[in-house]
Amino acid sequence: MQYFMKTLNLDLGNKSYPIHIGQDLLTQADLLTQHIQGRQVMIVTNTTVAPLYLAKVKALLALFTVAEVILPDGEQYKTLDTVNEIFTALLTARFDRSCTLIALGGGVVGDMTGFAAASYQRGVNFIQIPTTLLSQVDSSVGGKTGVNHPLGKNMIGAFYQPKCVLIDVDTLDTLDDRQYSAGMAEVIKYGLLGNVDFLLDLQQNIDALMHRDKALIIKAVYQSCTDKANIVAQDELESGKRALLNFGHTFGHALENTLGYGTYLHGEAVSVGMLMAAELSALEGLINDEEVQQIKGLLQKAQLPVSINSKIDHQDFMNAMRVDKKAINGEIRLILMKKLGQAFIGNDYQQHNLEQVIKDFL
Ligand code: NAD
Ligand code: GLY
Repeated sequence: MQYFMKTLNLDLGNKSYPIHIGQDLLTQADLLTQHIQGRQVMIVTNTTVAPLYLAKVKALLALFTVAEVILPDGEQYKTLDTVNEIFTALLTARFDRSCTLIALGGGVVGDMTGFAAASYQRGVNFIQIPTTLLSQVDSSVGGKTGVNHPLGKNMIGAFYQPKCVLIDVDTLDTLDDRQYSAGMAEVIKYGLLGNVDFLLDLQQNIDALMHRDKALIIKAVYQSCTDKANIVAQDELESGKRALLNFGHTFGHALENTLGYGTYLHGEAVSVGMLMAAELSALEGLINDEEVQQIKGLLQKAQLPVSINSKIDHQDFMNAMRVDKKAINGEIRLILMKKLGQAFIGNDYQQHNLEQVIKDFL
């Protein structure tokens, strides 16, 4: 059968791995099996994705001992308790250190499977098969794994790289429009933070992308993964540059945290957060109001929220912003914009400007 694929490599020395992006990849057994070292494979998925793609992935693994664990679906289940279900399934199946975990699903499944792989018997192999746009352009690449804690999002976790990322964009055919838009927020993020040409492409093609033109999707996923892989290759453990990938996320995480996980989708919260970061950059005199409006227009065309419709207490929001992995000694560090397509880690913004942005949005 004909299939179309582009491959890029995340260059991390002996932890390097390929990212395959294309159509009809879940019929290509070799793409997957060449990255499986032992005989035992545990597929981790959830109640929504299992009926859609589990049989297809299992069909690629005829020569292996395959078990599966089907987790409840939702950000509210991204917890240590749910990861424990993965450990229980692995132990019940008597899987040893040579086993491979396959994450089949969106970012929630991917983050938890990666974390389980990082800690089961002190580390076993894992492979990402991301099935949401957000997980295809962001969470499956770069090795951030983990779970939420009631006091902070993604606060418990590990850096742990997969052996391969297999992105079949055909899986997006079953993704609903709201989730698709949420993923588009992270695509737009790459344009805003460091790739002005990509931003211009997105501004030009956003309508066709929202109509799910497959060739444009592949191009956007490939460009997003390329930009992310370049940054991660330079700063795997986020001691510097990788923090740029959190553009809009300090505001976004605070939104998710104060409203309760699941009220806003992650990408939706990031959309509002990116606009808040843009407004702060404008108040700091770094970009102009017209540029802020351009960003807002692009997010709106991607059917993303650009304001907050629920009541949030100002102090609660500030407190939530301080529970951020970029914060140092309670000091909130933010990603700001110098100009469109160029973000930087801003530590010396004016506190009253931050207060103003939060007041405007809350
Ligand atoms: P998700 O995993 O909750 O998936 C969204 C919904 O789509 C779920 O209901 C899921 O079951 C469903 N779904 C998945 N694939 C589908 C398909 N092909 N067809 C139909 N439905 C499908 O959410 P997400 O947006 O993929 O990921 C968000 C999570 O990713 C958050 O927890 C966030 O913190 C995390 N994240 C991690 C990183 C990282 O670097 N590790 C980066 C960004 C986000
Ligand atoms: N999603 C941000 C990162 O991977 O660093």
